Parts: sequence; structure tokens; C-alpha cells
Amino acid sequence: MRYPKEVVLKNKKEAVIRPLETEDESKLRSFYAAIPEKDRWYIRYDVTNPLVIKKWIDAIGTGTIYAIVAVVNEKIVAHASLHMREFGSTQHVGRLRIMVMPEFRHQRLGTWMLLDLIQLAMDKGLNDLRADFVVGVEDAAIDAAYKLDFFKSAVLKEYVKSPRGIRYDLQIMIKRLHRSYGDF
Ligand SMILES: CC(C)(COP(=O)(O)OP(=O)(O)OC[C@H]1O[C@@H](n2cnc3c(N)ncnc32)[C@H](O)[C@@H]1OP(=O)(O)O)[C@@H](O)C(=O)NCCC(=O)NCCS
Repeated sequence: MRYPKEVVLKNKKEAVIRPLETEDESKLRSFYAAIPEKDRWYIRYDVTNPLVIKKWIDAIGTGTIYAIVAVVNEKIVAHASLHMREFGSTQHVGRLRIMVMPEFRHQRLGTWMLLDLIQLAMDKGLNDLRADFVVGVEDAAIDAAYKLDFFKSAVLKEYVKSPRGIRYDLQIMIKRLHRSYGDF
């Protein structure tokens, strides 16, 4: 992948996609501080905890997490990552996560970033990608996943709870990665 990569959003604004760097720690903290709590709740990690952000920064170059960010006017406006395992029965499966700042949603930014991570997963030789979504909360992400050829693999009924204790289904979606024609 050639970075930095300039992309033009639907509103004609430009964003730069590039790998997350060690110097981004405070920018990444500010990014997550600006994400509404209702979106943060469903992330597996407490992104308001500086140690969580530090862990992601420390993971740069370790080969287990590969993260990219989108930057506009020096500010991070989206963060996406591919998480890989080094050992065991699921090391052929990568997991994806993405967060786009609300003002920058529906501008194709999420699609650009996910396409990059899907390509990277293929380059790494992974067979499958997995992403979990909360039905009724992350429906936009579910739609985006279908467009990227993910399929519904399982639903864990009433598995997650909202801050107010309302239960929602968790939908596990998988995308099979095929080697490109160039490999044959
Ligand atoms: C889901 C998310 C990453 C999408 O990013 P985005 O940059 O807004 O997405 P895009 O503009 O590339 O849109 C891609 C597709 O997503 C779907 N989508 C995006 N926003 C949508 C909405 N509000 N309602 C329904 N579908 C929506 C559409 O299918 C869209 O394709 P289209 O533009 O051809 O209609 C973003 O909304 C987000 O960060 N949400 C909160 C966090 C989250 O849900 N993360 C996913 C958990 S891994």
C-alpha cells in the first residue's frame, strides 16, 4: 500500500489516509474524546483510558495490530485497525474495527479505509475477516459490511447490553478472502 494516500470524499473535501504513527498518541486521544458516548460504549475497549490508546501506539510495528488513520487539517477523523493472532486455531482470521468521527460519516471514508485493511489482510495471507456488530445500533456498519461481501455467520441472541441495560443481538459477520488473480 502506498501511503500517505489522498482521498476525495463525497463532499469534495480531501483526507489523507496513512498508518498510525507513534507521534499520534495525543491526536488519537483527542479523536476518541470527541466520539459520542453512545458510539464508544460498543467498542470492546475503554478508549477514554489513555492506557488503552498507549497500548495501541505500543503495538505499532509488532505485527499483531495494523492501524490506519484518516487525517484532515492535522486532526485524526477516523481510525481503523486489523487485529491478528500470532498463534493457534484462529490465526488465519483477522478482526476489523473502525470508527469514523460523526461529522465525517457517509463520505466514503469508512469504505476507503476498510478496503485498505482488506487488501492488507490478503497480503498477510489471512483467509477470513471477522467483524461483530450490535443489531439495531450498528446497522450502518452492517450495511457497509454487506457491501464489502461480508456475510452473516452467527447471531448471539441478546448478548450485549446498552448503558441502560437493554439487550441487543450481536451479529458475527465473516468475509472470506480470496487470493487475487495475479497469484495464479
Ligand atoms: C460504520 C462506519 C464505520 C461507516 O463509515 P462511513 O465513512 O460513514 O461509511 P461510508 O460513507 O463509506 O459508507 C459505506 C456504506 O455504509 C452504509 N452506511 C453508512 N452510513 C449509513 C447510515 N447512516 N445508514 C445506513 N447505512 C449507512 C451504507 O451502506 C454506505 O454505502 P453507500 O454510501 O453506498 O450507501 C461509521 O458510521 C462509524 O464509525 N460508525 C460508528 C462505529 C461503528 O459502528 N463501527 C463499526 C464496528 S466495527
